[in-house]
Amino acid sequence: MNFSHSALQLNALLKQHQALWRYNAYNNITARSFDDYPELLTFLFGLTDDKLNHLQSNDRDLLTALAPYFPPATELLHLISLTPSPEHHACEPPAGIPGRKWQQIQAFINAHPLSEFSDQQEEPTRPARINNTPLIEWCSGKGYLSEALTMRYGLDATGLEIDEALVSEGNQRAENTKLKRKVVICDVLSDKVFAYLNPSMQVLALHACGALHQRLLTTAVASNSRRLSFSPCCYHRFNDGKYHNLSPQMQNSGLRFSNDDLRTAVRQTHTARAGETAARRQLQARYLALRVILDKQGISANTPLPSTAQHWSKASFGDWLATVLKLKPLSINIPSHLADYEKVGWQLLKTAERIDLVRMAFRRAIELHCVLDSVLFLQEHQYHCTLSEFCSTSLTPRNLLIQAEKA
Ligand SMILES: C[S@@+](CC[C@H](N)C(=O)[O-])C[C@H]1O[C@@H](n2cnc3c(N)ncnc32)[C@H](O)[C@@H]1O
Repeated sequence: MNFSHSALQLNALLKQHQALWRYNAYNNITARSFDDYPELLTFLFGLTDDKLNHLQSNDRDLLTALAPYFPPATELLHLISLTPSPEHHACEPPAGIPGRKWQQIQAFINAHPLSEFSDQQEEPTRPARINNTPLIEWCSGKGYLSEALTMRYGLDATGLEIDEALVSEGNQRAENTKLKRKVVICDVLSDKVFAYLNPSMQVLALHACGALHQRLLTTAVASNSRRLSFSPCCYHRFNDGKYHNLSPQMQNSGLRFSNDDLRTAVRQTHTARAGETAARRQLQARYLALRVILDKQGISANTPLPSTAQHWSKASFGDWLATVLKLKPLSINIPSHLADYEKVGWQLLKTAERIDLVRMAFRRAIELHCVLDSVLFLQEHQYHCTLSEFCSTSLTPRNLLIQAEKA
């Protein structure tokens, strides 16, 4: 894969269509028109709820379905297609590790042949001795990934984690399982991190958020680390409200992602529980209902509104409304037939969900734009890079894996 070329193509496509992927249908009570794509709305409004649910959670099927009515979908599909993940067979997690997390970890490790982690290749079934290729697990939590790696390959592992409780639980687990690993308290954004990195280290991270994985790149490069391997997630976290490109190519690309854009990149409901989805939809319907009420009282329907925690979906519409108005704060006349407005909110939600598929069509492209920025930065610093999917999106939508080795 020519990363620079892919980045150029993605960049051009995203720039050309930014009005589409920056449009948030949930903040608008009048449906967006698609003048350049006359048949698109008819297609979207004809979708059944089941089909909608499926397309919301599957980028490839979404782009394939949109392509006849929305030509950019064909190019998007081509650009987001990477080496697919190898088939993964589920296995029982050790006590205390959530099943889905364990499957993600196993898939992540399977994406790395043994030789990448250990010099001892002759007896892969026998746990290898601790060898001289120790690894650092970046933002490790309790160090489940280290645990799995030490179990499988017998490597010496150190997790870096800011949360004291997780560090202590991780070390307790290490003691109980008698595995040679540890978790240390370390804010990876601080200079303390340099004490743990050196050229012989390989650095791994499963789901390092936003600026934390960018920090991984800059510190590993500065420390001349031999190998890096990481799956990024939550691009909007730990930054100052926007994405900061690391590579000169992306810095000069003329495209800047705000945190709202970055949230679009990780907007996927695939792994959400049914209860969470129901609560989210309930609140979205209420926000749309509130926008209609605001509009009727001469207040802009697009007014930014404070978000409310999921548990508010269980409160009555009236109580929820009073809370939002107080949080904003906003003074309006509360209409007498609130139930009617809530019904209108649900109707508007059905429209918004269908229109929003167009924004969803670009989410993986936005994510890839960020990921390619990381790859280009590493290439710039003489790393050979590969980019792949380490598992299916149903196991985790954040399934992109960057592996880099110093040339
Ligand atoms: C998304 S979790 C991933 C944890 C683990 N890698 C996994 O996949 O289960 C991100 C972790 O980063 C840790 N973290 C957040 N800020 C950090 C920082 N500045 N330095 C080190 N760790 C940090 C959090 O406490 C959390 O455990």
